[in-house]
Amino acid sequence: MKATGEMKGTHMSTRKLITLVALSLVCVAGGLSGGCRSDRFEKPPRQFLPDMDDSPKFKPQTATEFFEDGRAMRPTVRGTVAFGATTDARDAGRAAYLRDDAAFYEGVNADGTFLDRIPTGITVDSAFLARGAEKYNVYCAVCHNYDGYGKGMVGEQWSYALPNFHDAKYKPGAMEEVTDTATNTKRTIPAKTAKDGYIFHVVRYGVEYGARMPGYGHALKGSDAWAVVAYFRALQASQDGQITSDVPVEKRAEVSAAVERAHRAFLDQRAADAKKAAEEEAERLRLEAEKKARQNNKPASPEVKP
Ligand code: HEC
Repeated sequence: MKATGEMKGTHMSTRKLITLVALSLVCVAGGLSGGCRSDRFEKPPRQFLPDMDDSPKFKPQTATEFFEDGRAMRPTVRGTVAFGATTDARDAGRAAYLRDDAAFYEGVNADGTFLDRIPTGITVDSAFLARGAEKYNVYCAVCHNYDGYGKGMVGEQWSYALPNFHDAKYKPGAMEEVTDTATNTKRTIPAKTAKDGYIFHVVRYGVEYGARMPGYGHALKGSDAWAVVAYFRALQASQDGQITSDVPVEKRAEVSAAVERAHRAFLDQRAADAKKAAEEEAERLRLEAEKKARQNNKPASPEVKP
């Protein structure tokens, strides 16, 4: 029995070996026919190290239930500077990294409402206005035009008419009527559109609703955006100013002469434009008459009138 048993055991193990070899052959063949990366198959690909392929992580801009606000991307903690931004605590530029001054960086008061006027720490002088003018002419004039009436080269092609910066609602101190939904009563409050903080916000972040305006925060940072706001006010003042009340006595003659020159240039340009338009129209009519005459197989006559 023992011998038989041993014999049987040996016999079994040989069979087992053959089965194993056959199985492994099938496996290798299967593995090979399973294809390589980038081959197309109906089934999900084989993953030999799944935790490397599918490591737990959040992709940018995705949602999560883990954080209360539902955002996977975390905003920087207030009062901290991202690692590598600056290493020196005495770096004077740290204030700019910290962006802790909501009035200067966001144009808002502590309670989140828009500042009425440019932050008091900013000195608005002629150099500041010149900077604002330069930035305005680069970033805003294409749409809003150099004068702020909204008829810039791109602005004119916009699907809606662009706002006019000289409208009352953009002037400092403008009020607006709002309806209290709870009591259904109307009351007047200072208009948001009249506040410097709001203009600053529009410069940096654009307008999300209506005709939509892109933000220019990538190009106009901190005081540059405030310089544009200051120039925005100067543009408004330029249309409302009175020589007798807004211009110092010693500058009045100079300003009057400049206004006179600009007015004459405007009239000359308008006359030149009208003359050119009339000439073009005459030429168009002449060509049309010529064509008609040719079609009628008659010689063109300069007397032909439409
Ligand atoms: C590409 C075109 C474009 C450029 C450039 C542009 N804007 Fe605008 N802006 C718009 C449009 C469109 C609107 C109207 C949005 C609406 O209220 O529907 C607008 C609206 C505004 C308003 C009024 C917002 C309101 O709530 O009534 C202000 C103020 C303004 N822009 C300022 C600026 C300043 C300052 C710049 C330069 C930094 C600038 N814009 C650059 C297209 C532009």
